[in-house]
Amino acid sequence: MTPPLVSAAVVPPSVDDVTDLLRAVIDPELGSDVVDLGMASCRSISSDGFVVVDVKLTIGGCPLRAQIKKDIETRVATHPGVRGVKIEWGEMTSEERSATMAKARWNAREKAPDTAIPATTRVLAVSSGKGGVGKSSVTVNLAAAIAAQGYTVGVLDADIWGFSVPRMLGLDQRLEAEADPDTGRPRIRPNTRVVGDGLLKVVSTGFLVDDEGTALMWRGLMLTKALEQFLRDVAWGELDYLVIDMPPGTGDVQMGLARMLPRTDMIIVTTPAVSAQKVAIRAADMARRSFLRIAGVIENMSEFVCDHGERYPLFGRGGGQALADEIGVPLLGQIPLEPHVAAGSDSGEPVAVAGSGPAAVAFRSIAHQLVTETIPPVQMSQCSARRADDADQRGFTEVSVGADGVVIESVTPVSLRGGQ
Ligand SMILES: Nc1ncnc2c1ncn2[C@@H]1O[C@H](COP(=O)(O)OP(=O)(O)OP(=O)(O)O)[C@@H](O)[C@H]1O
Ligand SMILES: [Mg+2]
Repeated sequence: MTPPLVSAAVVPPSVDDVTDLLRAVIDPELGSDVVDLGMASCRSISSDGFVVVDVKLTIGGCPLRAQIKKDIETRVATHPGVRGVKIEWGEMTSEERSATMAKARWNAREKAPDTAIPATTRVLAVSSGKGGVGKSSVTVNLAAAIAAQGYTVGVLDADIWGFSVPRMLGLDQRLEAEADPDTGRPRIRPNTRVVGDGLLKVVSTGFLVDDEGTALMWRGLMLTKALEQFLRDVAWGELDYLVIDMPPGTGDVQMGLARMLPRTDMIIVTTPAVSAQKVAIRAADMARRSFLRIAGVIENMSEFVCDHGERYPLFGRGGGQALADEIGVPLLGQIPLEPHVAAGSDSGEPVAVAGSGPAAVAFRSIAHQLVTETIPPVQMSQCSARRADDADQRGFTEVSVGADGVVIESVTPVSLRGGQ
């Protein structure tokens, strides 16, 4: 349970507040939020901030249960007035499941998606309180290290006027648009780069403007618009992960992201210096205010390790752990200060891909931890609600003719036919 950042008297959330937070939890299989699908509702909130949430799974043994549990608990806990979250589990009746599946199908068909990011994509935004601490380096190295494990990873450079992702990934082709086969609307095609068995799909204003001076003119005016366009009008296609390089500081872009992709998980980058840690707390606070979940802290520019193994804590020690403790999230890892990191960024060859040395190892191990523990990808192949629904659909159809001559079709779901 994450402790609240503000120690002053905090007010527990209302049922509406909790419901809004639950709306940020997407059932990855069905592609809609758990409130809309009738899967989750707020049962009670005690005066001291303990929240009970009712969750009904489509089927009892749903393999996504652990993920839904974690998503609900951590999402509701982003409210500063919440001191504890308890889930009461239940299982849908066959009728409820049919209604949920009908709703999911309707949503998929009727509701134009707000973004082009698939519901199954895990979204990670790399943020920090202040500039120059290594957000972009962390973004490209983590994205590349995740891709190297065989995943398709989007990289969105949300540092609209201070972009550095193109150079760091050695990409410079201008973006082109293609007509969406369904709607005919133009869609931006991301630049791609194969990494190991995986693929990076990359979008940045750096691919749209001729020089950084032109990008500067976009400042303020275009910020949230540009983010919106990158989320809506890019033909992202299938993505396991989307890693977003956030601009320095906090503000408009983060608010825009919270609005458009409330399921985003933030990763906060800090240096070991106490001053950076203090500023990073503000980023964490801001994330909480916009109800974004914080997945963890990465300490960058940790001790420099020389060739003889001697350690030099050039920027101090312990800032990452102190920040993680203060905001109640895990320290995902420490990246040492190392010339290879900067050299790799300058040459477009992220050190995490083929580099050796402690920094490359640290990036790869954080990426491994992310995909195995912290934010595992959505494994659709294990999903079962759809299979159960298919079985229901294939249930027994009985046709009879009513007194008024109307044909009555009654489908009895397989699951209701005991023993069959
Ligand atoms: N672990 C590291 N070891 C050595 N150099 C590093 C390390 N991390 C980042 N750098 C270098 O520090 C500089 C700043 O890093 P980076 O551009 O990733 O930071 P940023 O937080 O994205 O900055 P901005 O706020 O300007 O976007 C770059 O030159 C980068 O190569
Ligand atoms: Mg940057």
